[in-house]
Order: sequence, then C-alpha cells, then structure tokens
Amino acid sequence: METEAIAASTVQKAASVVGPVILLGPPGAGKGTQAIRISQRFGIPQISTGDLLRDNISRGTELGKQAQEIMERGELVPDELVCRMVASRLTQADCARGFILDGFPRTVKQAEWLDKHLAENHCFENEDGSRRLVVIRFTVEYNQLLQRLTGRRTCPTCGRIYNIHTQPPRLDGICDIDGSVLVTRKDDREDVIIARLKTYESQTLPLVSYYAQRNRLKDIDGAGDVDRVTVEAFKAIEDGNSL
Ligand code: AP5
Repeated sequence: METEAIAASTVQKAASVVGPVILLGPPGAGKGTQAIRISQRFGIPQISTGDLLRDNISRGTELGKQAQEIMERGELVPDELVCRMVASRLTQADCARGFILDGFPRTVKQAEWLDKHLAENHCFENEDGSRRLVVIRFTVEYNQLLQRLTGRRTCPTCGRIYNIHTQPPRLDGICDIDGSVLVTRKDDREDVIIARLKTYESQTLPLVSYYAQRNRLKDIDGAGDVDRVTVEAFKAIEDGNSL
C-alpha cells in the first residue's frame, strides 16, 4: 500500500511524539494486524499483553504458569498481574515517544490503573494539562470474528498474522517472510473462542462508555478491506495528535 509519498510521510510521522494509542475490540477484530502497521508508520512499539503473556508461558516464568490455564479457558488474567507486567514494559526506552497498547486495558480496573499510571508519571501531557491518548475500537460482527479466528495462522518467528480464508501465505502453512512453519494459537479452538467472546462482552465492553465519556473513543468499522481499516486508523491517530 506504500507509495513514495506515503513512505516519505511515514519517515516524518515516525519522528513525532505520538503518545499512547489503545486498540480496543473483540478477539479477531484485527488489533494485532493493525498494531503492526501503526507501529511501522509512527515508529512506536506495539505492546500486546497477549503476546507478553504467551512469551512468559513459553519461557516457563511464574507469571506464565499462573496465566496458562486461565488463557486456555478464554478468561482474563488477574488485573494486578497484567498491570504489573505492563508497568515494567512501559519503563523501556522505546516507549518515550508513544506506544500502542494492543489488548490492554481490558477491564475498567485496568483502565483506571492506566490513567493513574500516566498521570503519576506525567506522561504525554499537553500544555493545557490534557493528555495525548487515542482509543480506537474496531467493530466486526460475531460470525465474521468466529471465521477469522478459526482461520488465523501466525508466524512464530516474525509474528506476521495470516488467515487461511482471506490472507493466505503464498505457500500453504509457510511464512512468506522467513519460511517458518505457521502455527495455530491454542486459544483459537471454537469452544475457547466462544468463551473469549463472552468474556469480551462482559468485562471489556464497558470500556467503550468509559472512553466515550472522556471523549477519547474513535469507532472504526473493522470489517472488509484491511488497507481501508489501516488508513482510518492512521487518520484517527494523526487527528488525535494534531500531526
Ligand atoms: P490476545 O492475544 O490479546 O487475544 P485477543 O484480544 O483475543 O485478540 P486476538 O489476538 O485473538 O485478535 P486480534 O484483534 O489481534 O485480531 P488479529 O489481528 O490477530 O489475548 C489472549 C488472552 O490473553 C486473553 O484471552 C486473556 O486470557 C489474556 N490477556 C491478554 N491481555 C489481557 C489483559 N489486558 N487482561 C487480562 N488478560 C489478558 O486478526 C484475527 C484474524 O483476522 C487474522 O487471521 C487476520 O489475518 C484476520 N483479519 C484481520 N483484519 C482483517 C480484515 N480487515 N479482514 C479480514 N480478515 C482480517
């Protein structure tokens, strides 16, 4: 999708302070797919709490041991554990110009924790005391989410996300970029997907009114063309940061 003009403006945007971008939306809405593109465009890191937890599981850490069964049931890992993990990630130098939170916050408690954390650390305050914070919610209807998640395949090496129905790799089961064998996530089984969607409705959906009341929420139709969704997400971030 990158023409010369877009590539030139990407270099320019990648030098600006962007502030935090929160990606909200149900499992399969395209948060991870869009986070990778936003990260490249603005030069800010993608912080996926799901990826951080899966990394802890594969390394066998104490956090990973506590999270594994919860994630396999499609429930949420306790707020304190996730907030501590995010706090530690935000201390890293690459977050100084902004960051993308993909899958966090996921409960009102996590959102309140984040507000407090950013305020206490005076992060990304404008001169008038307001904060740079853009919250994007991707909406996609239920049956499409089910189809997307059962068809998702991921590269364990570079993290690229494919879909056997809509974005297949050139060679069946093999990553186009590095040739790794693609994997299916353990929680992409139909019964677990249904549990994850229920968890989203009961625990994460209240964040929509939380951020709407604070005038932060930008809804984007997450169905249809991936590039169109990306263009709308870039615009929401640029508008929210006066770029
Ligand atoms: P996490 O890893 O965050 O999973 P999720 O929120 O369920 O979201 P997904 O990664 O499944 O979907 P996505 O929106 O990123 O979609 P994607 O871009 O991959 O969390 C996993 C678990 O960790 C949770 O269940 C919980 O237990 C725990 N956890 C994580 N964060 C937590 C927190 N804050 N608190 C407590 N617990 C936490 O796309 C999906 C598919 O659709 C792909 O195949 C893709 O190619 C395709 N696709 C994308 N866009 C389009 C499009 N426009 N058109 C067609 N296909 C598309």
